[in-house]
Amino acid sequence: MSEGLEGVVAANTVLSEVDGQAGRLIIRGHDLDELAGRATFEQVTRLLWDGFFEPLPQDLAPALAAARAEVFAEVSALDSGLLDRTPIEGMRALTARLADGDSLATALRLTAAPAVFTAAMVRALAGEAPVRPDPSLSHAADALRMLRGKAPSEAETAALDTYLVTVSDHGLNASTFTARVIASTQAGLASAVLGGISALKGPLHGGAPGPVIDMLDGIGRPANARAWIEGALDRGDRLMGFGHRVYRVRDPRADALKAAVRKLTEGSNAAPGRLAFAEAVEAAALVILKERKPDRALDTNVEFYTALLLEALAYPPNAFTCVFATGRVAGWIAHAREQVMGGRLIRPASNYVGPWPKKAA
Ligand code: ACO
Repeated sequence: MSEGLEGVVAANTVLSEVDGQAGRLIIRGHDLDELAGRATFEQVTRLLWDGFFEPLPQDLAPALAAARAEVFAEVSALDSGLLDRTPIEGMRALTARLADGDSLATALRLTAAPAVFTAAMVRALAGEAPVRPDPSLSHAADALRMLRGKAPSEAETAALDTYLVTVSDHGLNASTFTARVIASTQAGLASAVLGGISALKGPLHGGAPGPVIDMLDGIGRPANARAWIEGALDRGDRLMGFGHRVYRVRDPRADALKAAVRKLTEGSNAAPGRLAFAEAVEAAALVILKERKPDRALDTNVEFYTALLLEALAYPPNAFTCVFATGRVAGWIAHAREQVMGGRLIRPASNYVGPWPKKAA
């Protein structure tokens, strides 16, 4: 048995390759740096879905924009019963209203859903009315516009596109595996996506970037970093944004996102010094993790600079995981289709370690 299925290969995939020793991520034949900051979310979604839907339009942007308008109708179901929930619980509840199925139209609605429902949920929690999607905008630009009620700058749209592309797919991570298990039962894409959202929500997976902000705020200034980090580790806490099941070196997505934060914040007067402060905390954390865990290579993962980027885009920290889902949904759907089209029911075995009946059968 492999605890946590570490090292177990459970699928063949054409979608992405995570090389944990080299710190390399390949998405459908492209190194991450060929896509991040260069391709739009719609383009990378098309790249991932190619061959899994017939026919698939060359440009997914108009169809995805139409799907945003369609799912916006569900926002009216956001009643006061959801207002004591976190944004991801509210977004998941609205997504659960969408019909199951395996068609491209279903896939587009599910891909539109996190952007539309996250914006509506964040606004509702702030007592603000939802903003209707604008079909003339790209997915990233509209996601920001629906959140804020005003158009984002080109730089902000580019930064969100970089983020969504960077997190669009990543091998058989916990949420993608969950989506594939559900898809393998032929339950349908909505079921697979809902499972993906639920697995992503946990702090050991996609729930880490909100707590990264809590850590930075708790530390306050670079001189406090060592004492704060040591205190957290002494209590048995894990440092959010560090460590990974597969990477034994730095997560390549961390650098893609750090570059995006630098590009977005350079020249603007938004949070001056925030990036330098985060770099100082990161450096201190890496030294201390090495001292404490010399045998386990613990490095920075995607979530550390995700937190900085989404903070710079003015997302509230409790909605960071929703934005992760906004990008990863493209990968979940591609994996679900790949599983249905070529795979078997996923049904592993367990090793019974409980008591045996007293009477021999
Ligand atoms: N801070 C402190 N210690 C850590 C950390 C961390 N971030 N990560 C791992 N360790 C320690 C573990 O406590 C363990 O120590 P032990 O052997 O004394 O118990 C040792 O390093 C090995 O850790 P594992 O549990 O084997 O690591 P695993 O592969 O199971 O977990 C995980 C990977 C969950 C990402 C882990 O590193 C972690 O909890 N990180 C913090 C949460 C986080 O950033 N999650 C986002 C990951 S990226 C993503 O999913 C999108």
